[in-house]
Amino acid sequence: MSGKDAGQPTKRLLRVLSGETLKRPPWWLMRQAGRYLPEYRALRERAGDFVTLCLTPRFAAEVTLQPIRRFGMDAAILFSDILLVPKALGQRLSFENDGPKLEPLSGLEGLRSFDLAMLEPVGDAASRVCAALSGDTALIGFAGAPWTVATYMIEGGTSRDFYRVRTLAYRDPLAFNALIEAIEEATLAFLAVQIEAGVEAVQLFDSWAGVLSTEGFERWVIAPTKRLVVNLKHRFPKVPVIGFPRGAGLNYERYVAATGVDAVGLDTAVPPAYARTSLQIRLAVQGNLDPVLLRVGGEPMRQAVTELTQILSTGPYIFNLGHGVLPDTPPEHVAELAQLLNG
Ligand code: CP3
Repeated sequence: MSGKDAGQPTKRLLRVLSGETLKRPPWWLMRQAGRYLPEYRALRERAGDFVTLCLTPRFAAEVTLQPIRRFGMDAAILFSDILLVPKALGQRLSFENDGPKLEPLSGLEGLRSFDLAMLEPVGDAASRVCAALSGDTALIGFAGAPWTVATYMIEGGTSRDFYRVRTLAYRDPLAFNALIEAIEEATLAFLAVQIEAGVEAVQLFDSWAGVLSTEGFERWVIAPTKRLVVNLKHRFPKVPVIGFPRGAGLNYERYVAATGVDAVGLDTAVPPAYARTSLQIRLAVQGNLDPVLLRVGGEPMRQAVTELTQILSTGPYIFNLGHGVLPDTPPEHVAELAQLLNG
């Protein structure tokens, strides 16, 4: 708690989010909890299905803590999912072997008003994690950014071409905007539950930010993110926001200049030297080891980690991957990485 209530944050992650440069960067990994850990697979089995795992506080808290116990990251990320927001908006959600399935939606019809009570267990899980975390480990909460959540809601799951959602956004921007605003409001409430329960920073995952035209990016990535950040800052001025506009490419600079986020997550393709000169001069950056290098491990991984940290550690920098940990990553490779980063 001290990191949030006292004037200056003391936890390493929060210090960097407030603009400090640390010689040894704090680190965590997107999808650091999950299927690559045998103890996750065991608990997942016990819970039965994935949504139950997310909405049972003692399970979600336990899964959040598993990677911290093994590897000692500087931050835990609350175990949950971005698709709980569509579920709380009334869309049926299930997880099958080939990924999430949402009953397809063409507009706002069929969505009921947001069921915040359904998400209360996420707050309970956060309180449990806070009570269990010691010392210097921060707790990160998260949500999907409105555009990425809308892609799942309209496509009914993961997509290869995002044909349906882009068609709706370009053809009927007013109807699409109504959907975006409904998601935005629900997302703010979802993050508020997490923050009130003790998460100390939040990340907005915009995993599909890279599939829009530049104009679409402005309207459906930048604008909703900016409004969310304004509203979050109004209610929780001390809680830093990390934005992750995956695949934004040349639009990263615009995203950083316009949205008001405190830090930006770099996807695997962003050149670190470019990030240093064009992004890190304005805010903290986070990323971007290729998750495949973590899966490969050994010398290729070590070399990439050394290069990356050399380039970015001269400014505010949080070590992470360029996307999530792959399910077939050997846990020993994460242990190797931890040895390099824990100092
Ligand atoms: O450790 C952590 O990072 C916290 C947990 C977390 C999960 N999902 C758990 C999860 C986080 C931060 C997410 C975010 C998320 N969820 C994103 C954004 C990040 C990204 O990967 O781009 C997205 C797009 C989703 C939606 C989602 N959830 C998909 C597409 C899938 C299926 C793909 C997959 O990896 O299975 C999920 C399921 C999911 N979310 C799992 C986990 C651990 C696997 C479920 C299982 O155990 O079978």
